[in-house]
Amino acid sequence: MRAKVKRIFYFCMFLNHNQLDMEKKERAGFSSKLGVILASAGSAVGLGNIWRFPYEAGNHGGAAFILVYLGCVLALGIPIMLAELVIGRRARANTGNAFQKLAPGTPWKWIGLAGVLTGILILSYYSVVAGWTLEYIGEAVTNSFAGKQAEDFIGSFNAFTTHSWRPVVWAVVFLLLTHFIIVRGVEKGIERSSKIMMPTLFLLMLLLAVCAVSLPGAGAGLTFLLKPDFSKVNSDVFLGAMGQAFFSLSVGMGVLITYGSYFKKETNLTKTAFSVGMIDTLVAILSGFIIFPAAFAVGVQPDSGSGLVFITLPNVFQQAFGDVPVLAYLFSVMFYLLLALAALTSTISLHEVATSYLHERYGLTRKRAAVWVTAVCVVLAAGCSMSLGVGRGYTIFGLTLFDLFDYVTAKVLLPVGGFFISLFVGWYLDKRVVRAELTNDGTLRLPVYRLIVFILKYLAPLGIACIFVNELGLL
Ligand code: TRP
Repeated sequence: MRAKVKRIFYFCMFLNHNQLDMEKKERAGFSSKLGVILASAGSAVGLGNIWRFPYEAGNHGGAAFILVYLGCVLALGIPIMLAELVIGRRARANTGNAFQKLAPGTPWKWIGLAGVLTGILILSYYSVVAGWTLEYIGEAVTNSFAGKQAEDFIGSFNAFTTHSWRPVVWAVVFLLLTHFIIVRGVEKGIERSSKIMMPTLFLLMLLLAVCAVSLPGAGAGLTFLLKPDFSKVNSDVFLGAMGQAFFSLSVGMGVLITYGSYFKKETNLTKTAFSVGMIDTLVAILSGFIIFPAAFAVGVQPDSGSGLVFITLPNVFQQAFGDVPVLAYLFSVMFYLLLALAALTSTISLHEVATSYLHERYGLTRKRAAVWVTAVCVVLAAGCSMSLGVGRGYTIFGLTLFDLFDYVTAKVLLPVGGFFISLFVGWYLDKRVVRAELTNDGTLRLPVYRLIVFILKYLAPLGIACIFVNELGLL
């Protein structure tokens, strides 16, 4: 067990070995090719794939949403991810300063600053859900799922998330965990353990998908997942799918600008963006194959909202392995542990953006900078968490604070950020710079170069604008 905990610890740390370098005032990069992909994939893969994707897909009718989502990933998400990496590696600066460096004295700097703010807002409500995973690890470890039915899981989820202080405590614990890792910096040997963690999560999910699909009554879930009903496609579906694509890929606020600034000059940016996009999408689709068959099998509505995964999954463990309680126990403990870890690598990336900005811009020590970020997020996270329980009566535009943060960040701030990031690389940056970054100074052949520039110049900004205009009902 100790070895396991140690491994987990190292896994979480590997993202941050760059920070030690930063303390030494040099911006050395991730040490290996795999490190680069894993750090970026670690940021991308998280609650967005396993918690948010299924409930957004469920709210928007399933298969048709997923198709639109895939379109958004390919046409908007991956190209903008690439644009962020170009900005980051070129500027060798954090998100808040990168625009300042590449476009001194222009208003572009506001895009970077907006990114830092967006990161803080996301981190605040994200850590609430991340806190829920800690509660569920506790429940799994104490074997509290055993013998419960679907209704019991709904009841206990609602009781927990609306509790006055319990979820707040877990959110704070999660933020402190993130804080601790950000401040401590890193050790060696981390990449090796991350090579184990990510594939383990993936294999476990594959296994759960097989179990879920073979539950009696799962067929309706597969139909929901695979058979598009285009009559359900409206402007909300487009906005939701676009927001989900940005959110899930960690694109639109500059996480990948900050990470790109740590990349080596030999790293193939295009390949990295594509691999990360594929890994992220695969995990999201896989979680669809777990959640929907299982939800239909146990009679949980696919549009039951943000509790979907937390209500559905414990059922899968109970029903699929009911005859072998040891397996049910082991799998549930492992799953929530890995989910929490996936969330942790994402919160680290969010925290890193604000911390490195305060550190590099205002000369605070990393520790000080991190304390500020954590303190602000603790207050906001407590507000978000309580807005689901004791504060339910207080709404803004009809939304609780939690839902407001989710809506404003995923469906407004990230796409707007993505819009300007693609304009910046497509129009403002000198094309020689863009070409040099994408081809590593001409050493890589890049047949898709023109396509990428075309997307960043026209397709992505116009696509995002159309989806907004459409949502406002003007189209
Ligand atoms: N992409 C992560 C997830 O799917 C969440 C996340 C991390 C994120 N960093 C981000 C979302 C930056 C938007 C922007 O769970």
